Amino acid sequence: MENGNITFTMIKPCAVKQEKEFDILLDIKNAGFKIIALKKTKLSKEQAQKFYEIHKDRPFYKELCDFMSSGPIYAACLKKENAVNDFRKLIGNTNPELAEKNTIRKKYALSIQENAVHGSDSNENASIETKFFFSNLEIFE
Ligand code: CMP
Repeated sequence: MENGNITFTMIKPCAVKQEKEFDILLDIKNAGFKIIALKKTKLSKEQAQKFYEIHKDRPFYKELCDFMSSGPIYAACLKKENAVNDFRKLIGNTNPELAEKNTIRKKYALSIQENAVHGSDSNENASIETKFFFSNLEIFE
């Protein structure tokens, strides 16, 4: 799963609370991504801390983990050529104020933290993050 054709995304609690998950999934589909795994779930505080462990020394870590475990999310694995980079372009800058027009974060994010979606930052992390949520039996390429 590290061949550059997959990425991992979460639709975050802020977007699910606003019932934007299907609009976002349609944007993802219309951008040419195939959804090869998808589930609605809710992270425990401990799971959020583990998922975002790489940020544990950042000042926003505690708030981020509280937010990410505050309500249901959708986790998905997406397939497309050049998936990681193309998906990062589709979602836009982490900070919605800096995100380009028509990007998912520009359209749906509320703030730098409540930024609607997560996207993997490398092929290696796409694989690690996918395996965090899905077994091989739940992925249909
Ligand atoms: P994500 O792509 O999921 O990766 C790390 C998350 O941390 C990021 O989206 C934001 O939700 C959050 N984040 C990043 N920078 C900041 C910041 N400066 N303040 C608050 N939250 C942040």
